Amino acid sequence: MKILAIETSCDETAVALLECEGDFKKPDITVLGNALLSQVMQHREYGGVYPNLAKRLHSQNLIPMLKEALQAAHEFSELPTPTTYNLESITSILEREPELLKQFETFIPTIKKPDIDAIAVTQGPGLEPALWVGINFARALSEVWDIPLVSVNHMEGHIASVLYGAKNTTVPFPTLALLISGGHTELVLAHTWGAYELIGATRDDAVGEAFDKAARILGLPYPGGPEISTLAEKARNSNTEIQDEIQLPRPMLDSDDFDFSFSGLKTAVLYLTRELGELSDTHKMLLAREFEDAVRDVLVRKTEKALEEHIPKSLIVAGGVIANKTLRNAFTTLAEIHGLPLYIPIPELTTDNAVMIGIAGYFKALREEFASSEEIVADGNLTLA
Ligand code: KG4
Ligand code: ZN
Repeated sequence: MKILAIETSCDETAVALLECEGDFKKPDITVLGNALLSQVMQHREYGGVYPNLAKRLHSQNLIPMLKEALQAAHEFSELPTPTTYNLESITSILEREPELLKQFETFIPTIKKPDIDAIAVTQGPGLEPALWVGINFARALSEVWDIPLVSVNHMEGHIASVLYGAKNTTVPFPTLALLISGGHTELVLAHTWGAYELIGATRDDAVGEAFDKAARILGLPYPGGPEISTLAEKARNSNTEIQDEIQLPRPMLDSDDFDFSFSGLKTAVLYLTRELGELSDTHKMLLAREFEDAVRDVLVRKTEKALEEHIPKSLIVAGGVIANKTLRNAFTTLAEIHGLPLYIPIPELTTDNAVMIGIAGYFKALREEFASSEEIVADGNLTLA
């Protein structure tokens, strides 16, 4: 089955074309084309993602991403004479995306309808203005090409991201999934693909958000995760002595649940930097390392607690923050200690992308959970369970 996948929940505009075979037990995923454009540089001056700018950039960039994905998949061919479509219905679907509508009208009729069985699009969670652009694009394509739609939960996408490039795509269930991204920190018990139980979540900031806020306090650019990672690694490699005054708390480390809290950690970084006064480069490196250690300690301890209580047969860790090397190493060790197979996305699929949306979309298509155009409504707070 060929799936066209579209992701616009945050600041990445992504379109992918996948060929998926096999069943839930042993899916076989081939990426035919994977186009992604990050808006990170444009959001930098705002110190975070600015929703209306994200919306406008998705609107500008979806057609170029579609073209790139189709070309990579050898599914792109121009027609000698353009097809005539009912542009009235397209105009009403894309009326809130004038930039996209203009490009759609001039580009889509000039290309051959690609060989696609379903279109998967992110429904939520995320920024609603951004989500709508992808959804309306998917609806318009579905209309002109007469291809069924599936809506995808972005967090299920992160879980499914671990399948691509995995040595063994047969995930032993139940599995425990720790989802760590810019907007979420969740411990999810998955009984099978599509059956999720939320057992813990952050009570305030998400881990990625904490990385981004701590980085900002240290005067580092957005997104802060990779910046802190790089500094912390420098500190580890240079073997800089830990200074007593650079210590951060491990919030909720021993609390009697599977919840997290990271806003106190960010505040602790703020107070510490005030106490230290002018921050030297060494201070920044040490703070970054201590911050990474604090996050690692909390995430690992809570996950271990959940493993001991729920006794799953495998462990999944996914979401943008698992790009972090210290965390990748820590979870590799944790899984080894518990004798569990560990599933982590390949580095290119840790942060937002359309491949993961295509994989989760494939599972929904296998279950024949197609949605009508009107049914797909952006939901910024869509949950897994
Ligand atoms: O999954 P993702 O791309 O978007 C959301 O769905 O939120 O995650 C983005 C988050 C950002 O907060 C970013 O700072 C963080 O992932 N991140 C990292 C690293 N790379 C990205 N955090 C820690 N270490 C990294 N190397
Ligand atoms: Zn994400």
